[in-house]
Amino acid sequence: MSININNINNINNIKNINNINNFYNQGIGSFLLKKIHSDMLIDALKEEVWVENDGNKNVFCSDNEFLSLPDWMYKAHDTSTNTGADTNPYLNEYEKEFTIKQNIKNLTPKIYFDYFSILFNSPYILGIDKLFHSKITVNSIALWNGVGDFNWHWDGPGNDDIYALVYLSDYKKWPRKFGAGLEYGTAQMSEQGYKNIKQKGVLYPDNGRIIIGENRNPLWVHRTQHYSEQALNDKINRFTFLVTMKLTSLLPIARLPDY
Ligand SMILES: [Fe+2]
Repeated sequence: MSININNINNINNIKNINNINNFYNQGIGSFLLKKIHSDMLIDALKEEVWVENDGNKNVFCSDNEFLSLPDWMYKAHDTSTNTGADTNPYLNEYEKEFTIKQNIKNLTPKIYFDYFSILFNSPYILGIDKLFHSKITVNSIALWNGVGDFNWHWDGPGNDDIYALVYLSDYKKWPRKFGAGLEYGTAQMSEQGYKNIKQKGVLYPDNGRIIIGENRNPLWVHRTQHYSEQALNDKINRFTFLVTMKLTSLLPIARLPDY
């Protein structure tokens, strides 16, 4: 995998370009990677072995718009060969998801952890770590081409304080006619589940666009739009890294006094 991490160390020279207020007001913020940094990811994508969506239901759900997966993601999802999380009757849906996530984590190339650890502790998102006097630890990284997750949801529960979606596509400005944007909004809780979901905005997968989401508030929800028919037929690339993260305090752990 060819990401030259030495090149990314210049990241600390970039000026802070992000509006952290959106992240705290709406649970979601967005910014664009500089070309030098998005190109590094594109180089890595070119070296991946991609497995096309062949309709294998053990890996690709029948109703989704995944175009392809890198081979390590394919392996992590293949319920016919992994720990069988999807069919294990003793696991609830959260435990199943956790098990698949664990499989992914064990197979993700380490270079991505290195890259995103530097990126998310850099001035690109200055504010979050400083505000909490914390370090951001990357918990998991998933990668796919295409679209998944069509219904309103939040990404928890779990240990992840923050999630990021990192988009790479063939378009500096993603054509709106292709659909496949990320809608975000707010919801209210009821005994029947979510109600009164209000869409607050849409973010599109422009090349190098990064979305950072607050993952500790279940009322901040999001969903993905379908591809337009044309974009799906033409197999328009929309690569996504989903990076989950935890804030780790830099303060020493307070000791209880001895009594
Ligand atoms: Fe999500």
